[in-house]
Amino acid sequence: MENTLVAYYSLFHNTKHVALEIAKQTGAALREIIPDKNYSFDYNTAAKEVRNQIARGFCPKLISGNESIDNYQIIFIGTPNWFKTMAPPVMSFLQQHDFTGKIVIPFCTHGGGGFGQIENDIAKACPNSKILPGIAVNGMIAPEEITGWLEVIGHDL
Ligand SMILES: Cc1cc2nc3c(=O)[nH]c(=O)nc-3n(C[C@H](O)[C@H](O)[C@H](O)COP(=O)(O)O)c2cc1C
Repeated sequence: MENTLVAYYSLFHNTKHVALEIAKQTGAALREIIPDKNYSFDYNTAAKEVRNQIARGFCPKLISGNESIDNYQIIFIGTPNWFKTMAPPVMSFLQQHDFTGKIVIPFCTHGGGGFGQIENDIAKACPNSKILPGIAVNGMIAPEEITGWLEVIGHDL
């Protein structure tokens, strides 16, 4: 789909794998969201930093992801579940673009908490968009499960 973008942030590559599979199956363009300073790969260090950022509503500067989204009508947005919400770089992406009139489709990877507040938080950040049901992935996902989900939401596109 030429007018479709898969934008994602991923620290440990789980969300990246899902993003790649969605892009492969839909033919969408792929865009990695990269903050100017990445998080530590040490869980405890990252957790401290992330908790602090979420509490402050801090949105980091992006070194990738800022490019225009004007050419895209359908935008998949992927994030890890970090303390029940999206990773701050994804909030930066949402704040830096206008999603009015576009179709937004969330997806996340998580460690057991599913979407948490992510779908609500994305809907709040894109009040003038049509939000379609997303997919929350715990660990690995079979490509057929992505296919099944895309078929279901495809009826609303
Ligand atoms: C700082 C931090 C906070 C997390 N908080 C949650 C959480 O609240 N609920 C949950 O299910 N998983 C949580 N996780 C697990 C991640 O969502 C999960 O490992 C995810 O697949 C990582 O995605 P990534 O590989 O794309 O970075 C957390 C991980 C980190 C590093």
